[in-house]
Amino acid sequence: MTEPKPRLDCAATGPLFNANAMKLGVFGLNVASAGALTTSPDRHRISWDQNVRLARMAEDAGFEAVVPFARWRGFGGETNPWGESFETFTWAAGLAAATRRIALVATVNMMTMPAVAAAKQLSTIDHISHGRAVLNVVAGWMEIEMRMFGVGALGHDDRYAQGAEWMEALYRLWTAEEPFDLRGKYLSIEGGLQQPKNVQSPRPPVMNAAFSTTGHAFAARWADIAFISPNPDKPESAVEQVRALRAMADARGRDMQIWVATSVAGAPTAEAARAYVAQYSGPEMDIGAVENFTRLMMGGTAMPDDQRAAMLRHVAAHIGGFPLVGSYQDIAGKIAALSEAGVDGLCLTWMDYERGLPDFIANILPLMEKAGLRRPFMDAAGPAA
Ligand SMILES: Cc1cc2nc3c(=O)[nH]c(=O)nc-3n(C[C@H](O)[C@H](O)[C@H](O)COP(=O)(O)O)c2cc1C
Repeated sequence: MTEPKPRLDCAATGPLFNANAMKLGVFGLNVASAGALTTSPDRHRISWDQNVRLARMAEDAGFEAVVPFARWRGFGGETNPWGESFETFTWAAGLAAATRRIALVATVNMMTMPAVAAAKQLSTIDHISHGRAVLNVVAGWMEIEMRMFGVGALGHDDRYAQGAEWMEALYRLWTAEEPFDLRGKYLSIEGGLQQPKNVQSPRPPVMNAAFSTTGHAFAARWADIAFISPNPDKPESAVEQVRALRAMADARGRDMQIWVATSVAGAPTAEAARAYVAQYSGPEMDIGAVENFTRLMMGGTAMPDDQRAAMLRHVAAHIGGFPLVGSYQDIAGKIAALSEAGVDGLCLTWMDYERGLPDFIANILPLMEKAGLRRPFMDAAGPAA
């Protein structure tokens, strides 16, 4: 007897479901200093026209998605990284009207917005974009942000319990044809109904960005795209993380894509790439912001001075995720290894998006195509046959 095939239960008609073995998303474009906590004069600053220009550049190179951070406050220090950002639903709606093929992701912390509002906003983006909208749901906790929303403290696992109710509401709003009631511990909906339905049927894809086991269990139940975080010193750890996450989804008869958030710095030689990163995360590090970030995220974890200095440099350089630093060949090799481990997609950040995105397109994308990880995408009018 053959086992039933795991299934994907969202629409698989959008840009994220093409034949490319390794999908690509521009990550954090909407947030200042998204990819590095640095005072470098080249750090990422945001303007609407620049976001549109870079999103179109990614689209014309065949990237599958633009994925924003949902952020409301920065980390202080000299440059207040992440302090300036565009709100993600309105950002995705604007980009939907300015692009033709790429998927537009909106990111929401499930404690900050009623599911009723998020469902309809995402749906509206799905209509504006003719079926290219994706929702990224997160259950994070940054206290200064949550205080802005007046949200009471919830423990880590309780946030995912709240998230589960929120997701049930979201999916029912997207699919129910008749008004429904939903009463849970964290939310209550009377006569819930959303019309019109989405362009993507039965519903648009949902991403969940989490790393914890509880987060992965949540993703396995609700999400179509989830993230792992391989150990930078042991890239082979991706194999085990992929296996564990897929097993959780399999157990529910579900399928999902598995992505990795990365921080990219490529150059013709590994030495040049390392020197570039060393400059913006060493002498140019925004030490005040890095200290604030580590205090917020790691509390007062004690460690020896040299280890602490290395940790601070790592945070400054690679806050965007798994480091892809080296020669173009090295980076293409690391991406091939992630693919081999079962990773389906990458979210990419850079210290300087204006330099990093065209550099990736010119120098790394062709190597990915040569390795069979992506089909050539030469024509700005549409994918090559
Ligand atoms: C790829 C990725 C993107 C994320 N984007 C956001 C975001 O935009 N806003 C946010 O508040 N948290 C974001 N987070 C953080 C998560 O919300 C969460 O706080 C973090 O992963 C810890 O949750 P966990 O303990 O379940 O792993 C992101 C995490 C990942 C892995």
